[in-house]
Formats: sequence, structure tokens, C-alpha cells
Amino acid sequence: MVKICCIGAGYVGGPTMAVIALKCPEIEVAVVDISAPRINAWNSDQLPIYEPGLEAGKAADLTYWESAARMIADVSTSDKIVVEKSTVPVKTAEAIEKILTHNRKGINFSILSNPEFLAEGTAIKDLFHPDRVLIGGRETPEGTKAIQALKDVYAHWVPVDRILCTNLWSAELSKLAANAFLAQRISSVNAMSALCEATGADISQVSHSVGTDSRIGPKFLNASVGFGGSCFQKDILNLVYICECNGLPEVANYWKQVIKVNDYQKTRFVNRVVSSMFNTVSGKKIAVLGFAFKKDTGDTRETPAIDVCKGLLGDRARLSIYDPQVTEDQIFRDLSMKKFDWDHPAHLQPMSPTSVKQVSVTWDAYEATKDAHGICVLTEWDEFKNLDYQRIYDNMPKPAFVFDGRNVVDVEKLRKIGFIVYSIGKPL
Ligand code: UGA
Repeated sequence: MVKICCIGAGYVGGPTMAVIALKCPEIEVAVVDISAPRINAWNSDQLPIYEPGLEAGKAADLTYWESAARMIADVSTSDKIVVEKSTVPVKTAEAIEKILTHNRKGINFSILSNPEFLAEGTAIKDLFHPDRVLIGGRETPEGTKAIQALKDVYAHWVPVDRILCTNLWSAELSKLAANAFLAQRISSVNAMSALCEATGADISQVSHSVGTDSRIGPKFLNASVGFGGSCFQKDILNLVYICECNGLPEVANYWKQVIKVNDYQKTRFVNRVVSSMFNTVSGKKIAVLGFAFKKDTGDTRETPAIDVCKGLLGDRARLSIYDPQVTEDQIFRDLSMKKFDWDHPAHLQPMSPTSVKQVSVTWDAYEATKDAHGICVLTEWDEFKNLDYQRIYDNMPKPAFVFDGRNVVDVEKLRKIGFIVYSIGKPL
């Protein structure tokens, strides 16, 4: 392998190619993207994504997968290995293969599926030390050769026993399955959190106890206001669709429940805020701390904060939002966007023009919480653990409420100060 061209300079392409370039100095790495501003950003000191451990470097222009495949067919003059990396509907590799081979006779294209398992916020660490690298390809001599070539790239820094080789379909489906299992874990723990609140158990203690069973394991068992991010919901819906297309409605319904519980958790949180604040938040100022779908990223795709904010706005709350990495523009765009209609609770509606007036965005947690009747913590940013809560309390009307959707605040300490604290899955 002498040269790799990556189509797409986003959350996956950027960090992955940076690591390949770093680890394989003999391979030339070029990154192209359809968005000129995005490429310019990669070539500047202000990278287009926030990711710990990633520093500014060089990239060049992008297209969507079908036009990308057509373009590859147009310009290829020699045999190529085409690697499908992004999470695309299953069997895309086959479609890419068809476009390439039907448009360019005489050139051999080997299609590989090499799904990425990195998580945002830990992309560089995940790329350096992956649990596994998965490479799917055709079980033909050319396919095997292509798999080996890509394996050699990863072998620069990944132990070979962690590089798994499968057929094309298995690789694509494994990616959907892994995300579905992870999301299912969170929905399971979130469902338990509701039961904990109703019975007086503490979800942290339950998660810990359950996670010490080595068959279950301790990771990914944190109760939350709901999972977000661009992948979990999309991948599960994709899985549901594939199941339905294949005449498996029971399997489809099983996975749908993971999303339903996630929506339920967001609605439950909003209801808890409203009922605690004497059954109405109308005209009350509520500070929202955190808008990104998780800490250490500025990404807001499918963040639970969108549904929670819309729910509170639906009850005519005034919101003052602070997130260390999300811009005001982004927050307004997210709150005005129509959400696709998939079993969503009726009160989670798109933002009306009047709602826009109910929202302000600040660049400081103290400013956001000043004169607020309640605080909702929606992202687990480390800085929210160490805020001066006495100062915050002194600047709020009483009773002062904290609704912690991420279990980051020290409940005892805050209650001593005088706050009324609600934490997901904890005794009231
Ligand atoms: C996820 C997977 O973890 C990656 O392996 C996968 O490569 C990626 O999707 C993808 O397909 O691109 P990511 O969406 O970046 O990564 O973030 P996660 O760390 O998985 O978190 C997803 C959501 O679950 C976040 O909203 C997070 O706050 C929430 N979460 C996570 C919980 O509520 N509880 C937990 O215990 C863990």
C-alpha cells in the first residue's frame, strides 16, 4: 500500500487518517471532502472537530458514497482497494462494488468493509488502542489479498490477534450489532433507574453490583437522561428496517424498545422537573448545563438536551443554556430543527418562533444559573463537578432545584448547601 485516499473529513475520517499517517510514515495519506470550509479548517490551527489528543495537520475535498464510488470508477486507471469505513446501510459494500465494476471494465476493484468503533471524545485513544479492528471482504483470492493489504496497514500498531477478518456482510452487520448492544445496555440501566427512584434503591450501587459479574462487565452502565450521538439511534433504526425487510417483525420490535425506553427517559426527566417545581415551569428561568451529547465533544447530534429543552419550552420555561464546546448558533439550529417523527411523545415538538425568545445561550455557568429557579445538568462535563455551588445557590431564588441528568454533582454536599436535588436513579 503506497497511498490512501480518504473520502470524508468528519469525526471518523479526520482522526483515523491522522493516526494512519502518524503510524505509517511510508504511506501517503490524502483526505478529501465536499466541504471547502471543512478542509480549510483541517488545514488551519482551528480543527473542525474537538477531540482530545488531536492537533492541527493537513487535509484536501468530499462526496456521498454513491457519487464517491462513481468518481472512483471515473478516475481509476489501475486496480484499487476500496474501503467502506463509515456506518452506512448494510449491503452498501455490495452496491459500491456494482457501481465500480459496471463502470470500469478491466480494472479490479476489491471492496472491503472496515467499520470504525472509535467513540467521540476518545477518538485518538481508541484508534491507538482498539479492542479490535474488523475487516470484511470477499472470500476470493483477490478479496483475501485486499484484506491482507489493509491488515498490514493496521499491523503497524495493532497486535495482529486483534485484527478480525470476516465476510463483507458480517463486518457491516457487526457494526450495527455492536452499537445496538451498547445502546441496549444504556436503556437497560435507564429502565432500572426509574425502578430505583420508585423503590429507594440507588442506581449507582445497582450498576456497580451488576457490573462486577465478569460476564456483564463494569463499562457503559451509567444511568443518564438518555443516550444521544449520531450513531446509536440511526444504527438501531437501520437494524429495525433490515429486520422488517427480512420478515422478522418480532426482532425489529425487540430493538425498537431500546429507543422507546430512551425516549421515555427524556420525557420522564422533563416530567420530574415540572412536577417538582410545583407542576409548572411556565415563566421560570431554568439553567441548562451541558448541551453536547456527552462530555469532551462539541457534537450535538441527537443529544438528549434537544428533547429535554423542547419539553421544558413546551411548558413555557425560560432557558439559559451553557455548554463549554457548543456555540449559540448550533443550539438555536438544533432547537428549531424538526425531528423525524418516530414514536415521539406528543409534547416534544419543534421550536416555535415564540420559543426562540425563551432561550438564551451564555458562555459561563454562573451567568446561566443566575436568578434561575432550577438547574438541569444534561452533559457530564468535568467542570460541572467543581463549580462553586454555594455561589450559585446564593444567586438563585428559593427553593433552588438541581436536576442532575448525569449523576455528576455531589448530592450530599448540594443538599447541605440548601438545594433540592434530584439525581437520576437515586433516592429523593
Ligand atoms: C458510539 C460507540 O461507542 C462507538 O464504539 C461507535 O464507533 C460510535 O458510536 C459510532 O458508531 O460512530 P459515540 O456515539 O461517540 O460512540 O459515544 P458513546 O460514548 O458511545 O456515547 C453514546 C451516548 O451514550 C452518549 O450520549 C453517552 O452520554 C451515553 N452513555 C454512554 C450513557 O448514557 N451511559 C453510559 O454508560 C455510556
